[in-house]
Amino acid sequence: PAVAAADLAREGYLVYDPGLADTAICRSEITYIDGDAGILLYRGYPAQQVAEKCTFLQTAHLLTTGELPTGAQEEQWLARIAASTLPGNPVWGPLFDAMPAGTHPMAMLAAATSVMTSLAPDGASSIEQAGFDLLATMPALAAHAFARVEDRPRRPYDPSAGYVENFLHMCFGDSPVATDPAMVHALETLLVLHADHEQNCSTATLRLVSSSNAGFFSSVSAALSALWGPLHGGANQAVIEMLQAIRDDGGDLGKYVAKAKDRNDPFRLMGFGHRVYRTFDARARVIREVAREVCGKAAHDPLLDMALELEEIARNDEFFLERKLYPNVDFYSGLIYRAMGFPVEMFTALFAVGRAPGWIAHWTEAATAPERRIGRPAQLYTGPETRDLQF
Ligand code: ACO
Repeated sequence: PAVAAADLAREGYLVYDPGLADTAICRSEITYIDGDAGILLYRGYPAQQVAEKCTFLQTAHLLTTGELPTGAQEEQWLARIAASTLPGNPVWGPLFDAMPAGTHPMAMLAAATSVMTSLAPDGASSIEQAGFDLLATMPALAAHAFARVEDRPRRPYDPSAGYVENFLHMCFGDSPVATDPAMVHALETLLVLHADHEQNCSTATLRLVSSSNAGFFSSVSAALSALWGPLHGGANQAVIEMLQAIRDDGGDLGKYVAKAKDRNDPFRLMGFGHRVYRTFDARARVIREVAREVCGKAAHDPLLDMALELEEIARNDEFFLERKLYPNVDFYSGLIYRAMGFPVEMFTALFAVGRAPGWIAHWTEAATAPERRIGRPAQLYTGPETRDLQF
């Protein structure tokens, strides 16, 4: 079999593509990216325009149904989300309380979404209903995870408040952050800009898991685990930890840029580079401006200055220019979450709240694709030839 696979590869029948950079795993109508031009379209609309003009739930409607809602549709849509009973399910109390101190919020979200399978069995409810349940429940789960991190009581979910306002209230109670229009706008913008990004690691994972006919919520749970990694959604946490470490080490940015360029040093500038974008990530441009607005509001954040300076150094450095490494979506988003008062370990959970519409849209598209087949990549075997046990 080893020889057969290698022969197939040589003859061009099998493509050796670690990282799947040159392999399309599906056809999709949801999101388009032109990485060279820095273009990102949600169902044809530039994501920046959507972020400027639409709410997160309007964006979710666009991504999952193909169109923005009309007035009446939006009312019904919001009512279906508000009607979900999952956010208030009594299981969350004992589940989150049982998590050991120090459990990462992404572990909590992965566990809780997996449990959702038994609260709303996929077979019993439609994918449409499962989507409403996920949109309604994700902010509640993230807020419960935050309460667990801070070891304080959970705040109740209030479906009558706006989506973002409700979430901020669950996180910060009566603190001014929860009602500050600038913070509400910043979070809404971030959620819209995270809503989908075609075949990224977590969405591709979701599609692969769903291809075995696993349920919706278990596919989402797997996607959350993929998102957690620092090379993917976990980068927003890693960026702030990196900036803090540089600051604590004397603030010499040049030293860390040199480390990132050293091929014998595994250190990378977190928040830089992207598999698809070969120019400035369209989302990062918008998020940088939101960060500028928000980070000066309470007290000026010196990490923002460091981030801007790092971008400037990289912009003029041959190594980064040659490899087309620019700030990605995660480079500035953590600064905004930090200004709101979220601890770093919450950052990727906030990304996950935003990515829920994309996962719903891709799961639905994959489930109804005419070419649906179980995902089962090939490999090139490089182990020993057949041999006999010698005893
Ligand atoms: N810092 C320094 N060098 C880098 C960086 C970086 N952040 N990113 C890539 N490079 C270098 C690599 O060392 C490699 O150099 P070489 O050609 O001399 O070997 C070259 O650029 C290409 O890098 P790859 O790892 O092959 O690029 P790939 O497309 O596989 O990885 C990734 C993309 C994972 C995003 C990478 O750029 C990275 O690790 N960035 C830092 C983590 C990060 O910010 N992730 C968030 C991405 S956005 C998101 O997922 C939501």
